[in-house]
Amino acid sequence: MTRTLGNPPPAGRSMLAAGVRGLTKTYGRGEAQVHALRGIDLDLRRGRFTAIMGPSGSGKSTLMHCLAGLDQADGGTVTVAGTDLGSLDDDALTVFRREHVGFVFQSFNLLPMLTAAQNILLPLELGGARIDDATTARAHALAETLGVADRLGHRPAELSGGQQQRVAIARALITRPALLFADEPTGNLDSTTSAEVLEHLRRSVRELGQTVVMVTHDRDAAGYADDVVTMQDGRIA
Ligand SMILES: Nc1ncnc2c1ncn2[C@@H]1O[C@H](COP(=O)(O)OP(=O)(O)OP(=O)(O)O)[C@@H](O)[C@H]1O
Ligand SMILES: [Mg+2]
Repeated sequence: MTRTLGNPPPAGRSMLAAGVRGLTKTYGRGEAQVHALRGIDLDLRRGRFTAIMGPSGSGKSTLMHCLAGLDQADGGTVTVAGTDLGSLDDDALTVFRREHVGFVFQSFNLLPMLTAAQNILLPLELGGARIDDATTARAHALAETLGVADRLGHRPAELSGGQQQRVAIARALITRPALLFADEPTGNLDSTTSAEVLEHLRRSVRELGQTVVMVTHDRDAAGYADDVVTMQDGRIA
């Protein structure tokens, strides 16, 4: 299933967008203990589209959250853009995430009181960026590509699941993150919209040199990726 579509990374920059070594994560204790990650070694190459597959509960979301600095592993190291995330305190980690990482959550995480447009612009506002006409135009163009331009004035509760998902994708892309994590980004989309979203992600890898890591259960969706990693019971299969 490996296809070579990615551009070679520019000379002088590390080939690696991110990597983990010996990553372990255990939830709960005693009888209720769950070994979500049992020692993961993984390198994510810059400018590639990687799909992570595997059964429900195999640790895909946990791995992505640790890679993105949203959750802390119990053991092992996470390196993103040459920085060991374990060396950053909470504030530094927040800034680092804002500057390098975009995340599309399995459950969207849109803010209910904000409109779609306000949700899309939120990462920029949080980063202290001035929202000028060019920025608004970019948000609109992203929404257009993702097919939600006509829903920008609506709140999440007034959008379908698929529309919320597309707003969440636009929100993750608005900062042009070098590294985009997307947890089941097409889980709630019909096959046509799903193909459009996947094509958009693939283009942003090929044309903008972005690195995309996507969890999916769908073999067709994984077919858009350059590399496919399969997880099984907290390990890379
Ligand atoms: N906050 C938590 N507390 C306790 N257990 C958790 C927590 N989060 C995840 N787990 C457990 O860790 C394991 C891995 O969960 P994870 O969400 O990473 O799986 P997944 O591969 O993303 O599954 P899915 O495909 O269903 O989204 C599962 O057994 C899950 O029940
Ligand atoms: Mg998951």
